[in-house]
Amino acid sequence: MHDDDRPPAFPLTRRDTLRAGSAVAAASVLPPLSSAAASTQSMPLEPGATTTITTVVNGEPITIAVDTRASLLDVLRERLALTGAKKGCDHGQCGACTVHVDGRRVAACLTLAAKVDGREVTTIEGLGEEAALHPMQQAFIDHDALQCGYCTPGQIMAAVACVREGNATSRERIRDAMSGNICRCGAYVGIVAAIEDAAAKMGQG
Ligand code: FES
Ligand code: FES
Repeated sequence: MHDDDRPPAFPLTRRDTLRAGSAVAAASVLPPLSSAAASTQSMPLEPGATTTITTVVNGEPITIAVDTRASLLDVLRERLALTGAKKGCDHGQCGACTVHVDGRRVAACLTLAAKVDGREVTTIEGLGEEAALHPMQQAFIDHDALQCGYCTPGQIMAAVACVREGNATSRERIRDAMSGNICRCGAYVGIVAAIEDAAAKMGQG
């Protein structure tokens, strides 16, 4: 029987139900025109306040005006052209952006640039030199501790901190201390081996 041919005892047909459902779905997705226009008008994109910070980045003194809302990661990558620290999640969950502030590891995506005023920042670019790699950089090469390399700068910065924190004394502790650094390529076996190796060379294994 065709839906529209149903007797009066079944006044609501399947077609009616579908029509009603579509209307409800559209109403829930599309805001009323008047409120959409109002929200556009009442929420202009305002420029943020700026503040001037003086910091030392990779040994170089820098004074720079930054948006008070800017993350350290964005200032490093977009203002200072230090693109070693990577933006993975931008939410503090992957570790790709790990840098050191006053020798301690931080997620640069969660650190306001304004907060490093008067402090010292080290990125992967400042860890070693091409002709004299840091022992951790060399160990990552020696142990094939990377595949695509996207997570690697953050892994190395976290790994150096892991050793300095005294957490490279066993594989279990290394894994625990490095758990905030995600490697989508799954290079974890090589990463742990590299940290053990570098820790011994750094005199802290
Ligand atoms: S980009 Fe900062 S933790 Fe993922
Ligand atoms: S080496 Fe590819 S994500 Fe770690």
